[in-house]
Amino acid sequence: MTHDTTALNRARHRFDGAPAVWLFGYGSLIWKADFDYLDRRHAHLHGWSRRFWQGSHDHRGTPEAPGRVLTLARDPGASCAGVAYLVTPAVFDALDHREKNGYLRHVEPLVFDDGSRVDGLVYIADGHNAAWLGPASDTAIARQIAAAHGPSGANRDYVLHLADALRAQHAEDAHVFAIERELHRLAGLTAR
Ligand code: SIN
Repeated sequence: MTHDTTALNRARHRFDGAPAVWLFGYGSLIWKADFDYLDRRHAHLHGWSRRFWQGSHDHRGTPEAPGRVLTLARDPGASCAGVAYLVTPAVFDALDHREKNGYLRHVEPLVFDDGSRVDGLVYIADGHNAAWLGPASDTAIARQIAAAHGPSGANRDYVLHLADALRAQHAEDAHVFAIERELHRLAGLTAR
């Protein structure tokens, strides 16, 4: 698979004249909504966990020094807190470009805080895409993130903004908060 999944995503869902669809955001889409939306609600995706296992060559790193950004990994019994946006299909023109580095749109059942459910689209990068980096220790992940910068800014900020946004919605995420702690520890070491 190429890095650029834009064409693959365009061929995946044609929306069939639907006026609006739900989109689930679990990473930068939580705190950087640079698109119009009709509604925004806290939601969960059951059976998945956030992981910094996807390489970023285009936003938070470069082809020579990729950063690490989030994807979702199947995790029975887990639940991933995020934000659901109700958007018009036209929004996917820009979103497919933003999420082009290995992410494919999937349809998954979203659960809102009041227990109601709806199918939504979610961008997931799996182990078969060319930008995939996969698991590593918290320290190795944080070291790579601390060193990476790309056109969208420092990779570190991607983590810190997300951790703040999760706290603001009272969401737990052991993996994200562990990487955040490790980034602060590394910054403390370099400041000495
Ligand atoms: C998402 O936020 O839902 C996808 C991953 C990202 O753009 O950080």
